[in-house]
Amino acid sequence: MTTKIRRIGILTAGGDSPGLNAAIRGVGKAALGHYGWEVIGFRDGFRGLVENRRINLDRAALSGILTIGGTILGTSRDKPHRMVIDGETKDMTGVIRRNLAKDGIDCVVCLGGGGTAKSALRLHRAGIPVITLPKTIDNDVAMTDATFGYATAVDIATDAIDRLHSTAHSHHRIIVAEIMGHRAGWLTLGAGLAGGADVILIPEIPYDVEKIAKAIGGRSKQGKTFSIVAVAEGAMSRDDAALYRIAEKKLSRAKSLDDKIDAKREIAALDARHQGNTLRLAGKLEELTHLESRVTILGYVQRGGTPSAADRILATRLGTACADLIHAGTFGVMVAARGDHTEPVPLENVAGKRKSVPRDHSWIESARRLGTCLGD
Ligand code: F6P
Repeated sequence: MTTKIRRIGILTAGGDSPGLNAAIRGVGKAALGHYGWEVIGFRDGFRGLVENRRINLDRAALSGILTIGGTILGTSRDKPHRMVIDGETKDMTGVIRRNLAKDGIDCVVCLGGGGTAKSALRLHRAGIPVITLPKTIDNDVAMTDATFGYATAVDIATDAIDRLHSTAHSHHRIIVAEIMGHRAGWLTLGAGLAGGADVILIPEIPYDVEKIAKAIGGRSKQGKTFSIVAVAEGAMSRDDAALYRIAEKKLSRAKSLDDKIDAKREIAALDARHQGNTLRLAGKLEELTHLESRVTILGYVQRGGTPSAADRILATRLGTACADLIHAGTFGVMVAARGDHTEPVPLENVAGKRKSVPRDHSWIESARRLGTCLGD
């Protein structure tokens, strides 16, 4: 079935990532040139959709953006159903529906990660035609082989590990490099493997600091005078992981609103305590190994700058496939990467799910064969 489309909207939501502009260009150029639709960009994620802050994405606006980092549209973490307006939290779904109908916008393309898929599903259920594209440097969106942003971020983090090797080697130090990834370890595992880190710590495998110290001690015995520890920002000790498990179980079993608020408060307290974990880990390793330790937090450098060729290709493939799906009248889906192809996946199968690193993933097996310490 094909739908009569005249005008589409695009927005970018959640944390930015390299490749967003390549995806906007992919959708936009296919929409304008191939299908002859008008393309409207909404600024700053779902907030721009509510406030009707728009930018006309004509050929001139789409030109020269392929290589630019960030997003020309701006982004935010605002949710359409829980948006703070004049100090009050409101459900703005109705406003969005009215704005789109008034301006004759036939569907909205939402570029984002898991949180964006959740928001988009709510809009879809409210009768608004939406379609999403998977982006995030964390690579943790369910039901897609890859997300754009990840390949660039792995390159950046790998380059950092390469550079840290020479200084760690010169000073005979442990260098602990913190890599982004709150809940998933793809970025740390990918960069750790590519950069030859001696220890790789990810959220999916809670660690025992004594075992890490032992592995570093083992390296010293072999005459190695330095060690590189790649640690995901969300990696944690076995003890901390047990506390999270208890709090999360409480949340999933909460019967009343009060129980739910209580459990959420507990998780927030654990999150607050987790801040500075990498510094504490480095301190503990220094204490246990008697080797000088230093910390490098890569932070937002990993999200910035020019997208890699791999990300430009992925974002372009997903973007042009998105235009084809709109033409076919397929909404309420995410455009997923599957091998050399793309396929629409219902948002119900994406929202609220996370693609974590399986403990038996081939990259994990490969790291173990190399003798890399995974902290367990
Ligand atoms: O884009 C994903 C991510 O980079 C996570 O790894 C990180 O925890 C988070 O975003 C932080 O983003 P912000 O500070 O922009 O909310």
